[in-house]
Amino acid sequence: MSQTFKIALFGAGGKMGTRISNNLAVTDHEVWYVETSPAGQERVRAAGRELSDAATAVAAAEIVVLAVPDLALGAVSAQVVPQMQPGAILLTLDPAAAYAGLLTTRDDVIQAVAHPCHPSIFLQRTTPEEYADTFGGIAAPQDAIAAVESDDPNKAAIVEATVRAIYAPVIDVHWVTIKQLAQLEPTLVETVACMIGDLLREALDEAIHTMGVPEAAARSILLGHTQVALANGLRGDNPFSDACLIAMDYGRDSIIKEDWKKIFRDDELDKNLARMLHLDEIKRSDAA
Ligand SMILES: NC(=O)c1ccc[n+]([C@@H]2O[C@H](COP(=O)([O-])OP(=O)(O)OC[C@H]3O[C@@H](n4cnc5c(N)ncnc54)[C@H](O)[C@@H]3O)[C@@H](O)[C@H]2O)c1
Repeated sequence: MSQTFKIALFGAGGKMGTRISNNLAVTDHEVWYVETSPAGQERVRAAGRELSDAATAVAAAEIVVLAVPDLALGAVSAQVVPQMQPGAILLTLDPAAAYAGLLTTRDDVIQAVAHPCHPSIFLQRTTPEEYADTFGGIAAPQDAIAAVESDDPNKAAIVEATVRAIYAPVIDVHWVTIKQLAQLEPTLVETVACMIGDLLREALDEAIHTMGVPEAAARSILLGHTQVALANGLRGDNPFSDACLIAMDYGRDSIIKEDWKKIFRDDELDKNLARMLHLDEIKRSDAA
């Protein structure tokens, strides 16, 4: 049997907390569920789980998972970290607050971050449950990205076991630094990929409402071509046609700013994170 760990989950009644709790509940890990809002507490109880108080949960835990809003992570870590066992791990689910230096740290508490990749668009799905699970964590296998600030392989093993449990089913856990995780999320996947997803929705609206194309026709051709665009662009399945390449150039010239790759610079990442965390600026102790 695989090793089991003592896990404290803060924010157990939230969106991620509920998903994670559902997955932890079917493992042999020992879990303490902590939640402060009355509505969240009600959701934890309705799922048949018992709530713990923060102090009891933190005192017991080898790993404390903070599934609380990013804007609350600074305050919650300030409350939790001083009470943690020496050698315990503080795991957050998004790199923004950790990279921005907002979390309370302690020399003998290990900081870790782990974010789900979500199931790939190219995943070979076979069941209706896998098709329905676009977010991941239910039926469709996904990868996860993790960062742990420790050279101790035992700490990485606890993080990996926790990540595999909370985001299950997990195929691979990819290890990066906290900074690299922040470069992936938000920059690569929110600033670029999610923005383009929303742009596609806006373009569809234009086709329907401004150009007057029937909605079913516009939606159908967009969804099919989105698959072709991603399969050709990201996996090289087929070359784009010559005419398509000309239309793509027109789109790039009309839509994309020449200096768009500035988003990958450190100072732009800091600006992006400052906006997300409602800060005037990022003041990291290691900031260049
Ligand atoms: N929602 C997503 O799709 C998603 C995906 C990946 C990662 N994340 C990350 O997961 C984390 C949680 O996000 P969410 O969307 O689930 O937030 P949420 O707002 O849905 O849930 C947060 C929960 O934390 C509770 N909470 C607040 N302060 C608390 C405290 N001191 N002690 C215990 N509970 C407390 C709230 O009552 C709420 O139930 C964030 O770091 C977010 O970036 C979210």
